[in-house]
Amino acid sequence: MPDHFLEIYRNRANYYDRLVAREDQRGNLFRALNDIRLLDGLRVVEFGAGTARLTRLLSSQACSVHSFDIEPSMLKVAATNMRETGMTNWSLAIGDNRRMPVVESCADLVIEGWSFAHVREWQPNRWQEDIDKMLAEMQRIVKPGGTVVLVETMGTGFRNPQAPTSELAQLYAYWQAAHDLSYRWIRTDFQFASLQEAEELMRDFFGDELTNAVLARGKTIVPECTGIWWKHVD
Ligand SMILES: C[S@@+](CC[C@H](N)C(=O)[O-])C[C@H]1O[C@@H](n2cnc3c(N)ncnc32)[C@H](O)[C@@H]1O
Repeated sequence: MPDHFLEIYRNRANYYDRLVAREDQRGNLFRALNDIRLLDGLRVVEFGAGTARLTRLLSSQACSVHSFDIEPSMLKVAATNMRETGMTNWSLAIGDNRRMPVVESCADLVIEGWSFAHVREWQPNRWQEDIDKMLAEMQRIVKPGGTVVLVETMGTGFRNPQAPTSELAQLYAYWQAAHDLSYRWIRTDFQFASLQEAEELMRDFFGDELTNAVLARGKTIVPECTGIWWKHVD
């Protein structure tokens, strides 16, 4: 039985795209990324691009963005989204976070958004090994003087950060300590058009408990905390 996230990435990429389009409409992530590393003129490699929400942001300012994902269905929607922007400084291709089809020392910024943490649930017996491979790939691809950045959820429905599960708390603690990453968090709240839309978009991804709590609260803004881990590489 596939994980419900995997089922969504494989079969319902358009639904995923509609959900994430509702997140961070204030642009806090874009500002935070620019604080960590000014995006102007950078050559970027992106892991786990999904339907291109980060690709779109990065391409608007960076010199070039080469983005990868393991799921063809996500990349298909990503390509449609990127073509609609009219920008031409991007590429999308199949790639596994553990082994990217990219030469070494080619990027000023290597980034992943909401992709690496899946390994904690999908590979319960070898998640540390896989995370070490992913971080080693980032390190291999980044140029001296470049920056690696990881972006992951620090909780949906809460105003202050807390890892959604003990497993994710363990994962975040592991990569922060083992890979010597700096950390900050920001708010990237969801803003839905109506409660009806919140229900339609949230239930299959976030589950009944959180969706019912949102509906009971009666607010179309759903707080989301996002963690950003990074390292500037010598
Ligand atoms: C929550 S989505 C995030 C997508 C996108 N970064 C975003 O911000 O919306 C997770 C993505 O990671 C991809 N993914 C999961 N495991 C992967 C792997 N080992 N290699 C490459 N992509 C992977 C999935 O296919 C999915 O598109």
